[in-house]
Amino acid sequence: MFERLSTNNSSFARWFRRTRSRYVSEQSPIIIGGCQRSGTTLLRVMLDSHPHIACGPESSLLAGSFLPHKLTKRFNVPIDEIWRLRQTAKDHAHFVEMFLTRYAADRGRLRWAEKTPHHARFLEYIFRHFPKAKFIHMVRDGRDVVCSIRTHPKHRIIDGKKVATGIRKPLEPCIHAWLRETATALRWQGHPNYFEIHYEELVNSPELQLQELCEFIGEPWDPAMLEYHEETGPSRDPTNFISNEATEWVARKLGLQSINVHELVTFYPMFRQEPAGRNQIKVCRTLSCALGGSYRLHEHFCQKLSLDPEKHGLQTTADGKFSVEFVECLAGCGTAPVMMCNDDFYEGVSPHNANEILTKCK
Ligand code: FES
Repeated sequence: MFERLSTNNSSFARWFRRTRSRYVSEQSPIIIGGCQRSGTTLLRVMLDSHPHIACGPESSLLAGSFLPHKLTKRFNVPIDEIWRLRQTAKDHAHFVEMFLTRYAADRGRLRWAEKTPHHARFLEYIFRHFPKAKFIHMVRDGRDVVCSIRTHPKHRIIDGKKVATGIRKPLEPCIHAWLRETATALRWQGHPNYFEIHYEELVNSPELQLQELCEFIGEPWDPAMLEYHEETGPSRDPTNFISNEATEWVARKLGLQSINVHELVTFYPMFRQEPAGRNQIKVCRTLSCALGGSYRLHEHFCQKLSLDPEKHGLQTTADGKFSVEFVECLAGCGTAPVMMCNDDFYEGVSPHNANEILTKCK
């Protein structure tokens, strides 16, 4: 653990070494782990859909990482607040507790959960500081995991564009990765706070599996966990878009040609084919709105967010917080200019209203 900390942040490592305290938490956080590409992210969003639980972006904090800039970006917590918590904390475990408790409270949730695939390697540390933690081991068929690791990541986002990586790793290290990670977690089998869930069973009978899981973590079953895909808040992947692969997959599932799905995706403004910011601003540019001032509105947003007012297509701010674009008629022509921010619809928008809309966004 300490070696890992040293490589991440040397001043943090010094602080970690100085703080001899062994903070033992009274809390019962939920910890998800398992070999990468085993569905730990799927389980994360399912848990995060429970009204009591905040299972936000992967922090790697319990796996010894401390990267304040990453935390501030992923969790939308001001960096000063992160340093303040760090100075107040008795040790790293105490910092993790304070940081993730604050994150859960900000979202109105009672309990925090954390997902990082290789948590199993740190379970000794985790149980020492969080003896009431509930560890969920996600297991997936090794053949599928290995095939997925070999070509992961298939794409990277470069300058807002999806670029194929063409990665094809050798087979042997991928097999070893699955064996090593799975065996490490399996060593905890039989521990009262260890629970195993199999990816294949979870996708085949999610309700049954999630009910058992809720019993293990001591939470009431909530059907909202099955609606995980409806949630679009900042705790979800901010760059959700429909890739060509997804279009082809949907077409195959529905027995259609890809072009049929493609037409739909390109027609409706709620679908997109490239990644966007966490808050998506869409300004209508069709005739009524154009006459009603939508070009001035678009320009206003672009100037406020340091984007190019001349560009009509999707633009995303450097911090990934906002994207702005023109779209076609949003069916509110009588109250132009009309725009959307995420799922909210705004009519008769002035630059003054526009500023209020921006300040409401997290
Ligand atoms: S022209 Fe803008 S909503 Fe119809």
